[in-house]
Amino acid sequence: MSRLVIEGGVPISGEIVVQGAKNAVLPILAATVLSDEECVIKNCPKLRDVDKTDLVLEGLGCKVRREGDTVIVNPTSICGCSISEGLMREMRSSIIFLGAIVARCSEAVVSMPGGCPIGLRPIDLHLKALRDLGVEIIEEHGYIYCRTAEIRGNDIHLDFPSVGATENIMLAAARGKGITTIINAAREPEIVNLECFLNAMGAKISGAGTGVIYIEGVERLHGAEFMIMPDRIVAATYLAASAITGGEMCLKSVEPKDMVAILKALENMGVEFDIGKNEIIQHINRPLRNIPILRTMPYPGFPTDIQSPFMALCTLASGTSVFIETIFENRFQHVDELVRMGADIKVDGRSAVIRGVPKLQGANVVARELRGGAALVVAALAAEGITTISGTEYIDRGYENIEKYLLACNAKIERRC
Ligand code: UD1
Repeated sequence: MSRLVIEGGVPISGEIVVQGAKNAVLPILAATVLSDEECVIKNCPKLRDVDKTDLVLEGLGCKVRREGDTVIVNPTSICGCSISEGLMREMRSSIIFLGAIVARCSEAVVSMPGGCPIGLRPIDLHLKALRDLGVEIIEEHGYIYCRTAEIRGNDIHLDFPSVGATENIMLAAARGKGITTIINAAREPEIVNLECFLNAMGAKISGAGTGVIYIEGVERLHGAEFMIMPDRIVAATYLAASAITGGEMCLKSVEPKDMVAILKALENMGVEFDIGKNEIIQHINRPLRNIPILRTMPYPGFPTDIQSPFMALCTLASGTSVFIETIFENRFQHVDELVRMGADIKVDGRSAVIRGVPKLQGANVVARELRGGAALVVAALAAEGITTISGTEYIDRGYENIEKYLLACNAKIERRC
């Protein structure tokens, strides 16, 4: 297993062209299963989770090839309807295949999903919605067996605007019979990206980005060429890395309108921006101010995925910040490691109180999940001395070649085996 070795204290300054969004590419690759023709997906980040998704597609019988940042999926040879337990355990998002496979093959067999250990992460909303669409589901010995004569459109009211459940319903209903309405749907930009891709394949979906999504099922979907949206979480992580070190950052290929809550939080800390159409230029006025209260919320609220990198940022801000994590119950695993680096953080349940300290010190730390790992990178870039981060396999799930991008922005960072 590799480690990232970072010597902190250098301002992170430069230009970064932001990678394609992990959380958009995974459901879009799952959606290719619904097509009767080849699909060409551009701007796919080179990530472990994308490679695993390609393996899921190949396991179903699809032909998959990568040419640079383009993944080409030919699903015409689909011959399977199950996903191996190994792949299901490695990646939570493999559960989004359920809706697509059952709509395409009338049956599906998967095991309970795994993924980053950030909470219980049940899939009850996914299964209830699929049942409402006419899928018979048996849960037995850790496996989920699905069968349907046809997907029947229905009104589905989600108790919580789950991103994955919304995607699963869209995938199942796009090729079903009749009209499906999702009420209290997730409104994340990645859902809009999925709607655009499905419509490019001939689906009839509207309303993504609002709380109500309408899906008129169609009999078949054709191939499409599609560009994955930029990764707003990766973009925010690089802004945090630059802000904590007092650098000047220019992000290209970003979608600022998808990042309003994130940019607002940074502005409240005293950060300034010049915003262009697909560009963000960030200037820092030090010292950074604290964030009095940061509460993670479904979109358009502050994203849970950027909570931990922003907590790293607040460790060096003036004053006290309070973070409340409302989405995942176990998303403070980075706190012990930040404290090891000299941060002053107290956790009580889902709340964390962060008192700004004058400096962080390099230490040996462990990434225990994806975004918590990114928080350690942000902290290490600002810390005095050398930080060694192990558990990099988590960081690699979501950040394409993180050391390459940071090196280009003057970081002293190295990957060692
Ligand atoms: C997606 C993102 C993840 C992000 C999260 C919230 C992908 C691949 N992952 O994850 O990066 O942090 O959205 O923005 O897109 N829940 C249930 N029952 C369910 C489903 C969810 O109780 O059936 C709960 C979860 O435990 C959690 C909350 O709902 O507390 C949010 O989960 P959800 O929106 O489904 O997140 P994911 O789709 O797993």
